[in-house]
Amino acid sequence: MVITICIGSSCHLKGSRSIIQKLESRIKEKGLGDKIELNGSFCTGQCAKGVCVKIDDELFSVSPETADSFFDNEVLRRLA
Ligand code: FES
Repeated sequence: MVITICIGSSCHLKGSRSIIQKLESRIKEKGLGDKIELNGSFCTGQCAKGVCVKIDDELFSVSPETADSFFDNEVLRRLA
């Protein structure tokens, strides 16, 4: 699974860095480092939906506050 987080300027302002940190620590905690690849991307042109996070080709709108529930509900569910 590839998770791509937009680090363009608009998404950066909305907290993409802290989302990356949260996802990294959750991945570590669950020992999923070999199953999940975290990537950064430049602006994908959907700033209004930021922070734009993709699981493979599916787009989600995530904020630092929803990063944990995103991980539980979308990421873990797909790996179950
Ligand atoms: S900066 Fe993330 S979509 Fe534009």
